Amino acid sequence: MSINQNSIRQLVLKFIIRLLIGEDKLRFYETVDWQSQSDRFRKTNLIYPQYYSSQNFHGIEGGYLNCVAAITYDIVTAFASPPNEIRIRKQLIAAIKSQPTRILDLGCGTGSSTLMLKQNFPQAEVIGLDLSPYMLVVADYKAQQAAVNIQWLHGLAETTNLEEASFDLVTASFLLHETPPNISQLILQECFRLIKPGGQLIILDGNQKRLRHAGWLIRIFQEPYSKVYAAGSVDDWMKAAQFENVETKYIGWINQVTSGVNRVSPSNLV
Ligand SMILES: C[S@@+](CC[C@H](N)C(=O)[O-])C[C@H]1O[C@@H](n2cnc3c(N)ncnc32)[C@H](O)[C@@H]1O
Repeated sequence: MSINQNSIRQLVLKFIIRLLIGEDKLRFYETVDWQSQSDRFRKTNLIYPQYYSSQNFHGIEGGYLNCVAAITYDIVTAFASPPNEIRIRKQLIAAIKSQPTRILDLGCGTGSSTLMLKQNFPQAEVIGLDLSPYMLVVADYKAQQAAVNIQWLHGLAETTNLEEASFDLVTASFLLHETPPNISQLILQECFRLIKPGGQLIILDGNQKRLRHAGWLIRIFQEPYSKVYAAGSVDDWMKAAQFENVETKYIGWINQVTSGVNRVSPSNLV
């Protein structure tokens, strides 16, 4: 009997994928109708910016506007966050200085940090916003599995159209290395507009100082904007967006958490 090498390879690959993704999630990915599910979130009048729609992220054609990005994201992230993704994300929670009642997670992706925020502050209203309706499909599936209530919004982090001074806490995990620095700065200005006086912004992302010397890592993960992200400073961008008490803490080998507070303007004290 002749054995077809290609089918063996496919079987091995399928086995590895099953192992990494997990049976439940895999069944969901196999049966989901991506078009109708993403339509539940899709804002039809939203225009995707060129920097987003024209790039392949993580080597995936079409980037986050391809459901393959949503299917593979959690596995890639686990590998890209040594030594332990959960421990890294917990540093974002550890940086929270108050008991927020309204939280916005920008560029929420598949909702890993958003879920953690809701689980740590169950009384808070939590909103996750992302530009990819496919990522929101996975985020919503994960929230249902965890039995938590989170509102998912399809939108632009730099122009959310949400009410100003309406959040105690705004977070963004692993968003700013995915946007050109001028857009990252617009996002931080938008955060400042959205946060109540005294409220907090927390940015979890790659360690910029380390990434400057790790071009090979950026190439492996095929990140279009990581090099220019690494050349900048979230700290400086936040100060330029008028945040106060800005401080960056380095986590493990490759990550950083930057926190800042919206200054209390005299007009807000009246
Ligand atoms: C690397 S993923 C991070 C996802 C998630 N925050 C996490 O911690 O795993 C970056 C996410 O940002 C989203 N994104 C990129 N640019 C955006 C923008 N301008 N507005 C909103 N979301 C954006 C992408 O669609 C993607 O889901």
